[in-house]
Amino acid sequence: MRAAHPLAYPALKAGNRAVTRVPGLGVLVRDARLLRGVLMNTASFTKTGPGSPADLWTPVLGPSVLLNMEGADHLALRRQLGPLFGPAYVDDMVKESLAAPLVSLSARLRAGEPVDLVAEVRRYASIAISRLVGLTDEVMDDDLFRRVASITSMVRLSKPRLSPPQIERARAVMAELGAHAERAYRAADESTVPGRMRALGLTETQAMGAVGAFVLTGTETLVSYIPRLVCLLVDSGWLPAIAADRALVEQAIAEGLRVTTPSPVMLRSVVTDDAIGTVRVRPGDRVILATFAANRALGPFDPDANTAATLKQLWFGAGTHFCLGAPLAMAQIRSVLDALLQFPSLSIESRKAARGVLIPSYARVVVRA
Ligand code: HEM
Repeated sequence: MRAAHPLAYPALKAGNRAVTRVPGLGVLVRDARLLRGVLMNTASFTKTGPGSPADLWTPVLGPSVLLNMEGADHLALRRQLGPLFGPAYVDDMVKESLAAPLVSLSARLRAGEPVDLVAEVRRYASIAISRLVGLTDEVMDDDLFRRVASITSMVRLSKPRLSPPQIERARAVMAELGAHAERAYRAADESTVPGRMRALGLTETQAMGAVGAFVLTGTETLVSYIPRLVCLLVDSGWLPAIAADRALVEQAIAEGLRVTTPSPVMLRSVVTDDAIGTVRVRPGDRVILATFAANRALGPFDPDANTAATLKQLWFGAGTHFCLGAPLAMAQIRSVLDALLQFPSLSIESRKAARGVLIPSYARVVVRA
């Protein structure tokens, strides 16, 4: 996290107050209960307004892409998109699309080859997102993945908006993806997700906005998390125990999500006078929800203690904006971990943290069985 955000990360961790006003940044919240209270209170705290995600993403993705919407329109769009993330649908999609790559991963590890987990998971996340947005797997290649990451890496906590040249660059990448998704939508082929979106009643503009939101939110989070989880399991010595007792897998995944919190911070804008704990807030204030700090305050990674169970998956948010892609994320995490648990003696040969990224991640994690 320090490699990704050398200034913001220590600043968000400094001091021990649950809520505090940080000049130039906003009102910082680091307590799980208060944080959930903000997420559930959409009358006072919204994702639209000054300093909110809408400020960042609307110029790139347009006005109606879930993560910059509130109220009835937001709810209606979520309902329409819901079937795309039904656990049965995503489980089948992940099983079918990752079957061959995971067999190849196992074969390479069994042969004693070194494998870079980051490159590997990047490919899996790209395959899933490609299915979701109607691209062929080849279109969402490493290069396009990097261009998408170059959009999120423009985001800095100290800058609530992107600059006009950054917006232009981000729009160009999105347009490239949109062209493929548009073809799939227009062909009304229900074997593609844009085709299904059309069948679900989404307009072309809504469908293209959703495609952009999925690509932005759903790729880097997974590419960050899965290698970090494997490192946690190896470093803490838990890997062999979990490989031997698969009943611990869900607890290990939840604990890993708690400790790493791949989406470390959420933003809200204040719309009415209110208070967070003892701190009064006013319309226009920006609220920085430091989920990573709240989650980590509960202690180190420990699948046995499983303190994550008390958090109701706060790492996926809460309330109306709770991560729509959570079933897809969980299906991918389970599949990849299942393949790796065949190798309880997996060791990490080398690793390197990524710099200049929004989502704290490794740039490389080379493992060998
Ligand atoms: C481990 C992986 C992931 C984590 C930790 C994660 C975390 C989150 C969090 C915390 C939010 C709420 C943000 C807020 O309230 O401000 C969110 C929203 C969202 N996530 Fe995820 N996410 C993950 C993977 C995915 C994937 C794979 C997708 C698939 C496309 C996805 C799609 C979305 C969408 C569309 C939203 C916006 C929902 C809305 O505003 O109604 N996420 N995610």
